[in-house]
Amino acid sequence: MLIKKASLEDLNDIEIIGKNSLAINYNLYNLELFFYDFYHNILSVFNNNIIIGFIIYEIKLNSYHIKSFAIDLPYRNKGYGGEILYYLKNLLIKDNLKFISLFMQSKNNILKKFYKKNKFIKYCIMEKYYTSLDYDDGEELRWYNEKD
Ligand SMILES: CC(C)(COP(=O)(O)OP(=O)(O)OC[C@H]1O[C@@H](n2cnc3c(N)ncnc32)[C@H](O)[C@@H]1OP(=O)(O)O)[C@@H](O)C(=O)NCCC(=O)NCCS
Repeated sequence: MLIKKASLEDLNDIEIIGKNSLAINYNLYNLELFFYDFYHNILSVFNNNIIIGFIIYEIKLNSYHIKSFAIDLPYRNKGYGGEILYYLKNLLIKDNLKFISLFMQSKNNILKKFYKKNKFIKYCIMEKYYTSLDYDDGEELRWYNEKD
């Protein structure tokens, strides 16, 4: 597995993986905006030169905020998702920032288990946050840089 900053050529594959994996996903135009924006980073995950996943995060004052994150279906449950989070945690530590945050649908128990395994904790509940998903409840999770 190789994790590196996405190139423009990666964005087509990232759009497809996002569309197949996420209820709220970004199209090519949105991905290009993130690509050129100084405060956003897109990382691609490769396996044998094939893109199998990605993570998009925003760089904030004290933290990173994960905007979008997916591993392509055939490659799930093999540890890749955990490895990207590990990689991101190390970037955050190097940047001397305090925490990583993300928003998720409260009812997604698989994700809850995944993030718990990766030491994220619930920070707050966001009632009816997902207006485009029948006003589903959301929550914010955080992982804190304990070296801080
Ligand atoms: C969330 C996601 C990125 C995780 O990537 P991954 O490579 O599959 O994750 P890992 O292999 O590192 O971790 C597997 C762990 O996730 C959890 N998990 C994954 N699938 C599960 C399932 N069907 N049921 C229960 N737990 C599950 C478990 O904790 C599992 O560890 P365990 O087998 O030791 O219990 C991936 O599942 C995905 O792309 N999902 C769809 C998109 C999405 O929801 N993105 C997150 C948006 S915030």
